[in-house]
Amino acid sequence: SGPRPTTPTGAPSSDSQEDQAQHGSWLTTAQGARLYDTDHSLKAGSRGPTLLQDHHLREKITHFDHERIPERVVHARGSAAHGTFVSYGSASEITKAAFLAPEVETEVFTRFSSVVGSRGSADSVRDTRGFATKFYTRDGVFDLVGNNIPVFFIQDAIKFPDIIHAAKPHPDREIPQAQSAHDTFWDFVSLHTEATHHTMWQMSDRGIPRSFRMMEGFGVHTFRVENAAGKTFLVKFHWKPKAGVHSLIWEEAQMVNGVDPDFHRRDLADAIEAGACPQWELGVQVFPDDPGETFEGIDLLDPTKIVPEELAPVQPLGMLTLDRNPSNFFDETEQVAFHPGHLVPGIDITNDPLLQGRLFSYLDTQLTRLGGPNFSQLPINRPRCPVNDMFRDGMHQTADHRGTAPYKPNSLDGGNPFPAEQTDDHTFVEIAHEIPASKKERRSPESFDDHYSQPRMFWLSLTPVEQQHLADAFTFELGKCYEETIRERQVAVLTSVDSELARMVAEGLGLEAPVAQTPPRTDIEPSPAL
Ligand code: HEM
Repeated sequence: SGPRPTTPTGAPSSDSQEDQAQHGSWLTTAQGARLYDTDHSLKAGSRGPTLLQDHHLREKITHFDHERIPERVVHARGSAAHGTFVSYGSASEITKAAFLAPEVETEVFTRFSSVVGSRGSADSVRDTRGFATKFYTRDGVFDLVGNNIPVFFIQDAIKFPDIIHAAKPHPDREIPQAQSAHDTFWDFVSLHTEATHHTMWQMSDRGIPRSFRMMEGFGVHTFRVENAAGKTFLVKFHWKPKAGVHSLIWEEAQMVNGVDPDFHRRDLADAIEAGACPQWELGVQVFPDDPGETFEGIDLLDPTKIVPEELAPVQPLGMLTLDRNPSNFFDETEQVAFHPGHLVPGIDITNDPLLQGRLFSYLDTQLTRLGGPNFSQLPINRPRCPVNDMFRDGMHQTADHRGTAPYKPNSLDGGNPFPAEQTDDHTFVEIAHEIPASKKERRSPESFDDHYSQPRMFWLSLTPVEQQHLADAFTFELGKCYEETIRERQVAVLTSVDSELARMVAEGLGLEAPVAQTPPRTDIEPSPAL
């Protein structure tokens, strides 16, 4: 390693990358004092007790003691890669988002994850997978924080702690997928039938992807976009893998978990290292921004519903290529902080009550996980455009803020810039959207009450082999429940989806198939292409 970069005064430069990266010809303390030995602590004689005055010993061990940060409360196990998103420019009619203009290239970082397992859990378990992409656009960071399943378990964020408590390992044993966790999970979803659609996807082959490279991704919620002329549309985001969608079968997944618990992580890193860089096409389903926020009778604010692609084809917007592995897992994959509220001009949220709660949750949890309010300064989170946020101080502040105190209006700070004009296309402006006259209510719209027609549509879209896999998965997982009443209740829920599915699962569990509780609605035609 060569000489350290210096400032004009000859002192080592404090902001060079190399200075940060443990560089130099000799070992030092964190304060830069040269060390002659790091293998022996300072003792009162070679056989004597260790001296408290050994600063190097205490500093080294103290730093080690604090190396771990809390794992994510969900999506703790993840793998990520850097890449580029190249826009086709086809989105210009619906959004003024600058990174979707013709041929714009945007740096990205994508993290894939499982939801329930801890950081050290195995990869090829049956679970939903996260698919979160950070676009470092010139207008600021845009995060598309999605999953590999297009619907969610719950319609309202207030129930997120409930579903996660029910799905995580039982408190006494902390065994992933302990039998007790099966009881709590199936207890919750059988009592809470809005979870049925998501559960059907999870029990299908989609719940055990072959590789991150072979997963679709979905923004799940409906977003509102605005074009340069001020016209708005509602959209749902989709990622389509160039490698196609592939899954493991259950027996393969079981073996893979035993032989290589890092299977998905290794697969992603190896593929990129070998130059077989995975690609996904980003697309949108576009809907008119009608006051009812429905399309063909489907409530677009209900995150347990899809819109079949026959009714609204996915229109391609650009291509994502992941071509660089992280060089430090902790710095990048662990410290990256996604947030569905990281939006850019031209893309805004809707009133989906699940999305609304997420807007609060991510920043809140990251304040604890990443130790205070300055994690946007970490290299992986730092926007790739000028940042002038008026924030000061706080835990882990690394910026050297200068000048007059940040407040506005301010007649003393001379050349300090003022907020941009609202008319500029690159200025963050919330899309003006009328909020209906309303009163406070703790309830969902009635359109959220149909919990069965789309699960039935999903079931009918599967081939006989896929149907068998799905029924086998229900049978296997429910077979782990201690409580017979829970198994019976879940089979009753399935009866409301499809009587043949319920019969298959009941037979596998040695139960009587009950009579349908709720006749399935038939106003949405089955979609063969799902
Ligand atoms: C993390 C997706 C719903 C709270 C994540 C991650 C993804 C994700 C992909 C991992 C991010 C990463 O890789 O760092 C989704 C999707 C949802 C959803 C698609 C529904 C459509 C919710 C809800 C809440 C929530 C309703 C809470 C009200 C969290 C939290 C984290 C997380 C706390 C950990 C964040 C961190 O520590 O950085 N979610 N999530 N999520 N999600 Fe969600």
